[in-house]
Amino acid sequence: MEIVILPDAAAVGAAAAARIAAVVRAKPEAVLGLSTGSSPLGTYEALGELVRRGEVDLSRAAGFALDEYVGLPPESPQSYAATIDTTVTRPLGMDPARVRTPPGSAADLEAACEEYEQAIRGAGGVDVQLLGIGANGHIGFNEPTSSFASRTRIKTLAPRTREDNARFFDGDLDAVPLHCITQGLGTILDARRLLLVAQGEAKADAVARTVEGPLSAMVPGSALQLHPHATVLLDEAAASRL
Ligand code: GLP
Repeated sequence: MEIVILPDAAAVGAAAAARIAAVVRAKPEAVLGLSTGSSPLGTYEALGELVRRGEVDLSRAAGFALDEYVGLPPESPQSYAATIDTTVTRPLGMDPARVRTPPGSAADLEAACEEYEQAIRGAGGVDVQLLGIGANGHIGFNEPTSSFASRTRIKTLAPRTREDNARFFDGDLDAVPLHCITQGLGTILDARRLLLVAQGEAKADAVARTVEGPLSAMVPGSALQLHPHATVLLDEAAASRL
């Protein structure tokens, strides 16, 4: 695992954007693994700057989001489909027809999970997967106890994650869905490159357990230790317990 400690959050975003841009310059039809949450926002902003300056073109790239809430329609502003559309697809000039989010409102969720796996395989697999990390070590919505071999599936959100994400629902914990669809740890490990970004002291413990702790289903991020091309980009606060 490559660990890069940078002075601040802006430098983390710039470094992640530069790495993603390099992948797309080498392969304009690259498949990008997209993530939500606040951690990757600086990366998307820096990537948007590269797009506006004409230094990279994402119009032929494809995108697959990691996860989605179950039961929120895609039009709901809190859905990850809407979030990816407003923070990634539109500002980065991606083609909406090539960007997918797990269908959390499908009538048959299990079939939808299998179709999502097939769609990723059909696109040739993910070239670079951008990841944030939850304070409890989750990646995507793979909460502690997730199997390292897991595939896209329905999961119950951990109470801590629902509390952390209530801020996106006007602080109303009851409005946060109980379930989600998430790519599994096995799905994520299939990507050719992994890029985890973390900023701030609140992530320092999860980062230390991910990078230096033993492999453990209690720390889903520790699965990154199994990947041959995993890079972790940290600001000094997120790296403070290494
Ligand atoms: C969310 C997302 C994850 C994200 C994590 C951290 O629940 N499903 O993909 O990495 O929690 O979020 P944040 O970056 O806002 O701290």
